[in-house]
Amino acid sequence: MDIRVNVDGIAPFVDENTKKSLVEKAVAANKSLYEKTGKGNDFLGWVSLPLSVSESDISEIESVSQNLREISDVVIVTGIGGSYLGAKAVIESLSSSFEAYTDNGNPKIIFAGHHLDEDYLSEMLDFIENKRVSCIVISKSGTTTEPAVAFRIIKRHIEQKYGKEGAKERIVAITDHSRGALRKLSEQEGYRTFVIPDDVGGRFSVLTPVGLLPISVAGVDIRILLKGATDMERATQIDVPEDENICLQYAVARNLLYNSGKKIEILANFNPKLHYLTEWWKQLFGESEGKEGKGIFPAGTDFTSDLHSMGQYIQEGERILFETVVSVEKPREERLIPEDAENLDQLNFLSGKRISEVNRMAELGTMLAHVDGGVPNIRIEIPELSAYVIGQLIYFFEKSCGISGYVLGVNPFDQPGVEAYKKNMFALLGKAGYESEGEKLKARING
Ligand code: PA5
Repeated sequence: MDIRVNVDGIAPFVDENTKKSLVEKAVAANKSLYEKTGKGNDFLGWVSLPLSVSESDISEIESVSQNLREISDVVIVTGIGGSYLGAKAVIESLSSSFEAYTDNGNPKIIFAGHHLDEDYLSEMLDFIENKRVSCIVISKSGTTTEPAVAFRIIKRHIEQKYGKEGAKERIVAITDHSRGALRKLSEQEGYRTFVIPDDVGGRFSVLTPVGLLPISVAGVDIRILLKGATDMERATQIDVPEDENICLQYAVARNLLYNSGKKIEILANFNPKLHYLTEWWKQLFGESEGKEGKGIFPAGTDFTSDLHSMGQYIQEGERILFETVVSVEKPREERLIPEDAENLDQLNFLSGKRISEVNRMAELGTMLAHVDGGVPNIRIEIPELSAYVIGQLIYFFEKSCGISGYVLGVNPFDQPGVEAYKKNMFALLGKAGYESEGEKLKARING
């Protein structure tokens, strides 16, 4: 496999005697994922997903993507949580950092429905006013408030610009095959639709049309992405020995650390393009593991930027942290630091070196300093940021998360806690059926 998990940096911090039993649990957990014998076993469609996406599914996604690319300057991807973060993560990690400002023929992919900020939506309407615009609206339940509010506004804009007929060409919905308001609305309005499989939960859905369509519109080859994920699936099946199965290695390492009092895992990168991969990872692990009073709290840092902010805490704050570094071996471009005859900035000791070498030394120096400061680290070493490797990485994290959740003893595939804020929001907004709850909440707020 192109991805390696290096756990040398945890040895001084964990009780090796407990490792054997955790490895046994992790092996059993991987087996449960395939045999569907564990908790949440009706949501395990993602396990074999990369292999099960059919040629006709891929061709249809590519054909709709091609059409949206031809007719749009801007494609608004509307969704939240698992219906947003996977696409955002893959697109950001594989695009130029200046994609938004570059006129390269790709439509600009923007996102909406992932919060409720009025200014954002107003500014978005200003931005798209004189542009050719399309929308991919994504919601598995079809009833989530944030994307529904944004979509109502976007739908109005598109209909006013292109009429109801034009909207049929420019709006694509991705939702459940039969349930939910978005399914009903799409059928009534005649939109093109894609289905999110019943047995794939939101945060595990990036390799379904939820992620694949926006990613393809952004110009990424989804066949290569899927190939990476497929290869990772094969390399982490139940018959792969423990010492070769990197999902087992990662799941065991983080649970060993958790059991030794390290309650917070920081996913750290030294490549800003990975910022949203961290956001996706935070959702994947946070929503999967944080329940029943248990679970590692997933946090994220972008280094070296955050070494000048969070670095102090990591080095010397509460010793409840461990770090998992996604370490990228090779940048796409080569750029040397130039010699300067005057050397006023005293940087000539770096002349002729690649910037990536300086970044590498920053990474190694940081990890050594953090281990010295009591923060263990796991390294996930990847060769480069390519569609193939990102496909591997996505599947690697999904499988590790399923295994890790089972080792922890929770159902990694539900999210009962997400309902609490929704209930209060609906009650406060006066939604029918929430009246008495609304009265109680208002009494609490007003003291
Ligand atoms: O992982 C999950 O299931 C959630 O984060 C959902 O993706 C998120 O709440 C959005 O739900 P929906 O796609 O139903 O709008």
